[in-house]
Amino acid sequence: MAKTLKYLVKDSDVHGKGVFAAKDIKKGKKIIEYTGNVITWEEANRRFVDRDGHSFTMFFGIDDQMVIDGADGGNEARFINHSCKPNCEAKNKNGRIFIYAKKNIKEGKELFYDYLLEIEGKITKKLLKKYACFCGNTKCRGTQLDLKK
Ligand SMILES: C[S@@+](CC[C@H](N)C(=O)[O-])C[C@H]1O[C@@H](n2cnc3c(N)ncnc32)[C@H](O)[C@@H]1O
Ligand SMILES: [Zn+2]
Repeated sequence: MAKTLKYLVKDSDVHGKGVFAAKDIKKGKKIIEYTGNVITWEEANRRFVDRDGHSFTMFFGIDDQMVIDGADGGNEARFINHSCKPNCEAKNKNGRIFIYAKKNIKEGKELFYDYLLEIEGKITKKLLKKYACFCGNTKCRGTQLDLKK
């Protein structure tokens, strides 16, 4: 019998499309690999889209050198939105990125991981706005950027 998928893509209240649990998912379960063509950061910077001062990225940084471009040959993982209080986490396994359930997730819930975006240089107010977070959690830090770096 074919395995039923754990997730589906549909409109999100947070941003554009999102990925949702198609069934209950247990804490610790692997949900999906983040796939796409692997490119250099230099190439990623060339491909980066800045729409009206707001960033839009389907990149997932593997390390200092390489990035997965989910918009280029990627799967549904590219639609997973960011949350400051996520129910999923991304793990790097020998250069491949997998999304795991960080807690038990009920069917119908949107899947999120914390993007913890890193940028070069000082984090200015302009950059915070550019990478603003709309996750809506009470503990939202207001940005998709990693403020601890
Ligand atoms: C990998 S895409 C996620 C899928 C996206 N919702 C779509 O419809 O294509 C990442 C982009 O979605 C937006 N995004 C994701 N989570 C967000 C959040 N919590 N707040 C604001 N924008 C978010 C940002 O523009 C980000 O660069
Ligand atoms: Zn947030």
